[in-house]
Amino acid sequence: MFEWKDEYSRNIKEIDDQHKNLLKIGSKLHEILKLKKHEDNYDEIMEILHELRDYTRYHFDCEEKLLEEHGYEDIYLHKFQHKFFLKKLENLELEDVDENQISVIMGLLVFVSDWIVEHILKTDGEYVEYLNSKGVY
Ligand SMILES: [Fe+2]
Ligand SMILES: [Fe+2]
Repeated sequence: MFEWKDEYSRNIKEIDDQHKNLLKIGSKLHEILKLKKHEDNYDEIMEILHELRDYTRYHFDCEEKLLEEHGYEDIYLHKFQHKFFLKKLENLELEDVDENQISVIMGLLVFVSDWIVEHILKTDGEYVEYLNSKGVY
């Protein structure tokens, strides 16, 4: 589910490396759900939730800086999509994780896998040709 596939590559090393790290965080959640769903995993869930949120912010910042630096025209649309995903993450955090562990993890899994399909494969794909043409690989 969260395994890196060559088709995810956006042909820019820094971006690919960051996307790989995001997938790794996603797979940690998957592991908790598979192996320990009957135990109390509150601390682990919160830790991964914060890790995912922080790393997502970091990744979005890097991507936006790169697009800004190279004068990418559709940056506002892209920024808007980033904001939308971050909002989703922050809303999940407001839920009572202790009471709803499984539903929080499921929500995060859906969030991350949605993101792979919708964002990495489609939206991030839109700037690749432009950045490559500016010599960014
Ligand atoms: Fe990205
Ligand atoms: Fe992006």
